Formats: sequence, structure tokens, C-alpha cells
Amino acid sequence: MNRVCMSMEEIKISSAPQGGSSVGDRAAIYTELLPQLESLAAHESDVIANLANISAALKQVLPYVSWVGFYLLKDGELVVGPFQGKVACTRIKIGSGVCGTAAEQRRTMIVPNVYEFPGHIFCDAESRSEIVVPLLSRESHPGEGGKLFGVLDLDSAEFNSFDKVDAENLEHVCRLVAELFVRKGKDGR
Ligand code: SME
Repeated sequence: MNRVCMSMEEIKISSAPQGGSSVGDRAAIYTELLPQLESLAAHESDVIANLANISAALKQVLPYVSWVGFYLLKDGELVVGPFQGKVACTRIKIGSGVCGTAAEQRRTMIVPNVYEFPGHIFCDAESRSEIVVPLLSRESHPGEGGKLFGVLDLDSAEFNSFDKVDAENLEHVCRLVAELFVRKGKDGR
């Protein structure tokens, strides 16, 4: 039988609990979410469809997030991809803002106060803190960096919203996303 639609309800991603943003709460949210994102991606080969649902799922379950989305590397620039939130900057140069810096340095950037980050790009005047995680494929050979496909960016309207728990779990999500791009490259879909 053809699978017509796998909705968020079907994969049981619950909505964000009110005020559920303590370290324990957010670890529990990610523990429930990650296997479901893996299952979602395993059932769908279209990368953009997966990125759209992953950004929607993150927005749905993380109560402290005001904007979440992907910037994808195209011709040496970051171009906005699937996201949830207000209209955002379309293109970001490598090395510019938090997104461009995370892409250039190929590392997760947690910014507790965006006003203190030199060159921060304000897409939303209400943004107060931010986390950006690069989309990197696994290293193919020891000592060789993985391939960069873009970044995952999350904003919050509160200061100090993101921590190590977010970084570790979002890095897991980003490895999953990078593998979708690798898989697409291999099977041509
Ligand atoms: N603040 C980001 C720009 C993207 S928006 O937050 C969606 C940055 O400094 O790169």
C-alpha cells in the first residue's frame, strides 16, 4: 500500500510543554524527538521535504525558539532554505554574521547575547540569543573534514536560551541532515 502522508501526528511529536525549558526538560524533549526525525527521514527521499518537516518539528517542540531554519551552501554563499518563523535574510556570505562564521569555522556557535556578537545579522529585531550548527557529513578519512552543506540556525527572543544540551542534540540532527545530502548525491534523487 502506498504511504500517502506521514504527518507530525502520526509520528507523535508532541507540542512544546509550557515553560518546559529546564536542562532536564529539554534533554527529554530531544530524547523523544530524535528517533522520530530519523524515522521521518528514513521514509522520505526528498531532502527539501525532510528539511521542511525537521524545521517544523523543532519549532513545534522547543518552547524557547522564535525562528528555526536551514541556510544551504550554494555557489559559495548561504541561501535560506526551509524554515519556521518570520521572513528572514535570503543570503549570507561565508564569514558574515553568526551563520557565516559557523560555516567558515565549521563549528557550533552558541551566542547568549546577540548584541555582543560583532557582525551579528538582525533578521528579526526581537532576537536575543542564537545557536548555529554546521551541516557536516561524517569524515570520510581520518583527519579529513566532512563536507559542508549549510547550517541550521535557531533564534530565541530571550537571552541565554541555548546550552550544551541543545548543541549536542542539534549536532545529531545536523549529521542526520548532512547524510540526507550525501544520500541524495549518491542515488541522484
Ligand atoms: N542572525 C543570523 C542571521 C540569520 S537570522 O537569525 C534568521 C546571523 O547573524 O547570521
